Amino acid sequence: MRIILYLGKGGVGKTTVSASTATAIARSGKRVLIMSTDVAHSLADALGVELSSTPLEVEKNLFAMEVNVLAEIRENWTELYSYFSSILMHDGANEIVAEELAIVPGMEEMISLRYIWKAAKSGNYDSVVVDAAPTGETMRLLGMPESYGWYSEKIGGWHSKAIGFAAPLLSRFMPKKNIFKLMPEINEHMKELHGMLQDKSITTFRVVLNPENMVIKEALRVQTYLNLFGYKLDAAVVNKVLPPNSSDPYLQALIDQQAKYLRVIDDCFYPVPIFRAHQSTKEVIRPDRLFELSQEIFNSKNPMDVLYMNDKTQTLEKINGKYVLSLYLPNVEVEKLAVNIKGDELLVDINNFRKSIVLPNVLVGRKTEGADFEQGTLNITFAN
Ligand SMILES: Nc1ncnc2c1ncn2[C@@H]1O[C@H](COP(=O)(O)OP(=O)(O)O)[C@@H](O)[C@H]1O
Ligand SMILES: [Mg+2]
Repeated sequence: MRIILYLGKGGVGKTTVSASTATAIARSGKRVLIMSTDVAHSLADALGVELSSTPLEVEKNLFAMEVNVLAEIRENWTELYSYFSSILMHDGANEIVAEELAIVPGMEEMISLRYIWKAAKSGNYDSVVVDAAPTGETMRLLGMPESYGWYSEKIGGWHSKAIGFAAPLLSRFMPKKNIFKLMPEINEHMKELHGMLQDKSITTFRVVLNPENMVIKEALRVQTYLNLFGYKLDAAVVNKVLPPNSSDPYLQALIDQQAKYLRVIDDCFYPVPIFRAHQSTKEVIRPDRLFELSQEIFNSKNPMDVLYMNDKTQTLEKINGKYVLSLYLPNVEVEKLAVNIKGDELLVDINNFRKSIVLPNVLVGRKTEGADFEQGTLNITFAN
């Protein structure tokens, strides 16, 4: 059983690359489910079929579904939802605003995660490919070491606060059944999913990006947070790469700009493997085209494999009360080394190679105190 999650900024080609990966897996004879948890659904368009939250077999071994979180909340979470909206209405919010606000932050992601858990546990598939929402909230939820406990605490907190402040008034808004009885069960599922997501032999995270400045920054942020939370990036897919040359000066200027960013990507993601796909002049939709794209991206590699297995890519530890950020840079001979901080970015210059890392919040605003390179690992100490 393999879970493959694609992350990245909106518009880079996450849905296309996810669908392409799933098609390749299906055509290699394995049963695969591709699931879109992004509210901006385009998986149906990519596959050229109508989709719902029930898996549909698009072609042999290729199943697809779109999780509609809002509909799910309305259908299956009505009790919880009407409970929260009644509290908010009581506090003076109008009905529509109350309904909007009643969606607790993290609830959408939790529901999406629960779908992943269900699919992974069903025994129906060899692989589950997730076309994830490009939100920071997804990252935060994935990052919570005890995300399962967090969620129920949050709801429990609301519950007791509401009771504490306005128990008598609230009693008439209270749902008849105890909605909180559901929580322990969900906690169990979340705990199990968390274990699966942390198991490198089961789950891999991949980032999709384009050779563009802002997109690279977002991808680096994904990498930093995945590392911080103990999840591993096993590949970066650079999509929408232009051809190497053109006789048109306008296009050539764009190509030159891309070339610069392609080098940045190579340096920044090293040693994680980087795959490339060209900007196609034809629309990349429907399984046949998606399959062609997968051949271009993965070539002779099997997209279902773990494409990079390493524990040490990037780690953050507290050693003797100080934060130490370690970067694994195999096969690098250090002649010149400079470490600089620019805003929330850490720029590491080694010889002619520049690696940029988006700093986690805990390190932003701190100065570096020293850097040493030992056995292929660069350790950077931050001042308190
Ligand atoms: N390699 C490619 N060549 C041409 N068009 C592409 C390519 N990859 C993606 N697209 C197109 O770019 C748009 C955005 O892609 P999509 O996969 O929906 O991005 P995301 O899911 O990251 O928002 C879509 O219209 C898609 O068909
Ligand atoms: Mg998408």
